[in-house]
Amino acid sequence: MAARAENFRCTACGASRSKWSGRCDACGAWNTVVEEAPLSAGPARKSLGTRRGSRVELSDLASEEKPPARTISGIGELDRVLGGGLVPASAVLVGGDPGIGKSTLLLQATAQFAGAGLKAVYVSGEEARAQVRMRARRLGLEQAPVQLAAETNLRDILTTLEKERPDLVVIDSIQTMWADSVESAPGSVAQVRAAAHELTGFAKRRGISVVLVGHVTKEGQIAGPRVIEHMVDTVLYFEGERGHQFRILRAVKNRFGPADEIGVFEMTGRGLTEVRNPSALFLSERDTPAAGTAVFAGIEGTRPLLVEFQALVAPTPMSQPRRSVVGWDGARLSMILAVLEARCAIPFSGLDVYLNVAGGLKISEPAADLAVAAALLSAREDIALPADTVVFGEISLSGALRTVAQTESRLKEARKLGFNKAIAPDRGSTGPSWGPRVRQMPDLVTFVGEIFGAG
Ligand code: TYD
Ligand code: MG
Repeated sequence: MAARAENFRCTACGASRSKWSGRCDACGAWNTVVEEAPLSAGPARKSLGTRRGSRVELSDLASEEKPPARTISGIGELDRVLGGGLVPASAVLVGGDPGIGKSTLLLQATAQFAGAGLKAVYVSGEEARAQVRMRARRLGLEQAPVQLAAETNLRDILTTLEKERPDLVVIDSIQTMWADSVESAPGSVAQVRAAAHELTGFAKRRGISVVLVGHVTKEGQIAGPRVIEHMVDTVLYFEGERGHQFRILRAVKNRFGPADEIGVFEMTGRGLTEVRNPSALFLSERDTPAAGTAVFAGIEGTRPLLVEFQALVAPTPMSQPRRSVVGWDGARLSMILAVLEARCAIPFSGLDVYLNVAGGLKISEPAADLAVAAALLSAREDIALPADTVVFGEISLSGALRTVAQTESRLKEARKLGFNKAIAPDRGSTGPSWGPRVRQMPDLVTFVGEIFGAG
């Protein structure tokens, strides 16, 4: 074996290294570095040069390739996140926290795809047949033409698939699969990678679509889905807050469609139902505009979405004030607080700041900057924003406001939900004649002065 073989790997970020350490120096996680067996143990591999391979077919870039014939599940929120349905022979990874609803979603999706004419196999490595059947009954799917297996042995699964030749196979979950070619425990990085590699390779060769379920792991005892993200065509994460019934399916990588697309679902007593108008859902708990809230007109993937930012600002008893953020980036919050202090002379020192996105959604658009600033100022000054108003715009370090993409879609969504005013960066027009009236702000100082009468 080579002296500097990197056979230790972090189960959290996948970084490899030559020796064990208690803390991964790539991602900083503790107790996540594990030893892994090399992918192909056994006799030393021959160098590639000594053995002749077969000739690979080469073609022009201009050669015609028909777009793949996708299968629509009929679950619109899922089809859109996939980029317009399931592509044949594609590999999809669905990651998420344990208990978030991955098995529920995939059983529903498998049943729908089977109903749409695909031969579908659902392999559960976590639950016994009886348990899966029980869930199917609860979901009203016991008559769906889905073939069920409860198995973890990868060799047996592949043999079965070879014989059955389905169009779609769901593996729930990849962490329970056991490939006998690798000498480490199921769930280890080596096993998860080997199993994913075998399954995706097999599926591609046989023209089968494969969906792998992966649990996100906090403790790092078993390998998380990140270690196989590069092997699949599409990576979806299923997110949500435990206490909330909303679930977001988010495409973080998609070779067949836009990334960042989201699908919104609601967990009910009879499984997941689609939320066709998520803006209404995320704003549903809102009554009269209160101090400390601002409605952001955002874009998630290809779809506009209105969400409410909520802020609380209170004097701190501590020497170091708290900065607590849920659903947005903590570093970005610090930046906005710094800009407010430096450019508008509004200090937040000595004040605890809590920022929250209603409904358990995670927002990453810089276009939300102005809505965040609005919520913070509204909380600090105890002044509610004008009613029926949406806010968007990016804040630069100088305190200037930058225009953001897709202003029109944002305004349309606002109008649809009954918001007839918008506060946005300066863009030389007061908005389209059909839409909300736009109050333009060139910079943060103007915004503070006009809306809060300060600055
Ligand atoms: P599950 O799909 O098993 O989660 P995962 O596969 O991601 O671990 O979902 C588990 C939770 O969903 C469980 O707490 C029960 C709840 N649930 C419902 O609320 N309604 C339903 O119809 C079903 C099937 C589950
Ligand atoms: Mg499950």
